[in-house]
Amino acid sequence: IKLAVLVSGNGSNFQAIIDAIEAGRIPNTRVACLISNKSEAFALERARKHNVKTIVLDHKAYPNRQAYDTALVELLRQHEVDLVILAGFMRLLSPIMIDAFPNAIMNIHPALLPAFPGLDAQQQAFDYGVRYTGCTVHFVDKGTDTGPIILQSVVPVLGSDTIESLTQRIHGEEHRTYVEAVRLFCAGRLKVEGRKVIINE
Ligand code: GRF
Repeated sequence: IKLAVLVSGNGSNFQAIIDAIEAGRIPNTRVACLISNKSEAFALERARKHNVKTIVLDHKAYPNRQAYDTALVELLRQHEVDLVILAGFMRLLSPIMIDAFPNAIMNIHPALLPAFPGLDAQQQAFDYGVRYTGCTVHFVDKGTDTGPIILQSVVPVLGSDTIESLTQRIHGEEHRTYVEAVRLFCAGRLKVEGRKVIINE
């Protein structure tokens, strides 16, 4: 299975996935390329350290989202990518990307969807006063954070939490949860039926 990981920044989720692959926990799988829309993303350094091919695809070099996504699809096809992993990729995808990879684009969101979609989900949950939040791995469809849910992990909000401590605990769960979702996909165990993701034995 060939993965492409799309990032804009830090890339700790990418790190967790590459570590899992190197440890043999996701068999028959490799990261064909790491694509960043930002040349200064720290994730690029992480990729170089693990001999993963890096590509910077700067959105500012394209007139609009359609043109950018067309270039992205072409790159992904060139690399014969089976699964596209969004890991802190701070751009919305147009139907050009979604239609090119149906149920083959994954995203991680730092809240329990459908609660708190969009930006600053940890802050939204913290400000709302929920007792539990967490993270969600889902397939990407044409909406924002609306696609079929693959896995979720719950993180309790403690009385002593600040937004920083809460964000950090969610991040830890993200790494574990994303690796597990990718492992299931790569083992051929995920099937999408309507809104539901079936996890086969
Ligand atoms: C994570 O919080 C993820 O939920 C969100 O973007 C962040 C990426 O973190 N989509 P990192 O770059 O993987 O450290």
